[in-house]
Amino acid sequence: MNNKAKVIGTGSYLPERILTNRELEQMVDTSDEWIVTRTGMKERRIAAPDEFTSTMGVIAARRALEDAKLTPQDIDYIIVATITPDYPFPSTACLIQQALGAKKAASVDIQAACTGYLYALSMAKAFVETGVYKNVLIVVSEKLSSIIDYKDRSTCVLFGDGAAASVVSLEGKGLVIQSVRLGADGEQADLLKMAGGGCRHPTTVETVEQGMHYIKMAGNEVFKHAVRRMEAACKECLEALQLQELDVSWVVPHQANIRIIDAVAKRFEHLPPERIYKTVEKYGNTSASSVAIALHDLLQNHPIKTGEKIMLTAFGSGFTWGAALLEADR
Ligand code: UT7
Repeated sequence: MNNKAKVIGTGSYLPERILTNRELEQMVDTSDEWIVTRTGMKERRIAAPDEFTSTMGVIAARRALEDAKLTPQDIDYIIVATITPDYPFPSTACLIQQALGAKKAASVDIQAACTGYLYALSMAKAFVETGVYKNVLIVVSEKLSSIIDYKDRSTCVLFGDGAAASVVSLEGKGLVIQSVRLGADGEQADLLKMAGGGCRHPTTVETVEQGMHYIKMAGNEVFKHAVRRMEAACKECLEALQLQELDVSWVVPHQANIRIIDAVAKRFEHLPPERIYKTVEKYGNTSASSVAIALHDLLQNHPIKTGEKIMLTAFGSGFTWGAALLEADR
């Protein structure tokens, strides 16, 4: 498997502060019972005022580098996927590059919302397998609390902050990236978006008064698309490798809602429930970070044997979606 890109190190960082459903009950007209039954979430993490997407990403990156037994100087390229960059520009990737001291690394931000990790994984795979770059560092990090309206019960209960990182390389042991399949549909752009702050609606008193600096989502519509697209992406990914659902040992889905996860899991009926990996209860939806945080959590808590196959899948604003099949070579 030496000609295939591998995830050779992972790390994550979750802020200390826990926001519970009980606290949310004091903030908006909601209940612990509604949140748990409709979403599966019990708590989520909230970054401190002096924690940012870049600073959380740096901690996750250092942990992934340590896991990969590499130093920042070994990194050739840094891809940061986020919808909550520290600034519109310069890129968060450049801030992370500087903080790490990864002096030779070219650095760029990408934006594919909750599918960011999978889009980054496909880029990293292409770069290392074509020999363009040797070691690629992926950082996914979100301070979603900075774009949440804590008066809007339909969104504020769902999202949390956190970061994760992966090192992708041809050399070393890890998880072989067998296939990544991606999709997008800009027709549905309006169903999940933050309308203000870009060149269409530069920030003004009016845009702020209208709450255009917050996430807005047509939850119900998004839900249906999410299930359909993730199911189809998993199928396409397996077909590309001439594999079947039965060949999969673990599924790590986007942690948007326990009911979405359960619907996607139906495709993998042979797996016991604990093999559909979930962090939604403790971290909520962390957008680009979600799948990568869950993957790192899985690797920390379960010994994955050589040959075991892990299916990742995600769906997000855009719409964007994807699935990736990783195979352990440890
Ligand atoms: O990460 C990107 C992808 N994101 C997703 O995939 C999220 C997809 N969507 C969802 O997960 C779900 O649609 C939600 C969790 C957002 C909402 O669940 P739902 O079962 O689709 O609820 P709904 O939007 O149809 O709303 C049902 C009711 C409404 O009240 P009425 O109109 O029936 O009186 C809402 O106002 O639930 C109400 N509601 C709440 N009630 C208590 C909405 N949010 C809350 C809340 N607490 N936090």
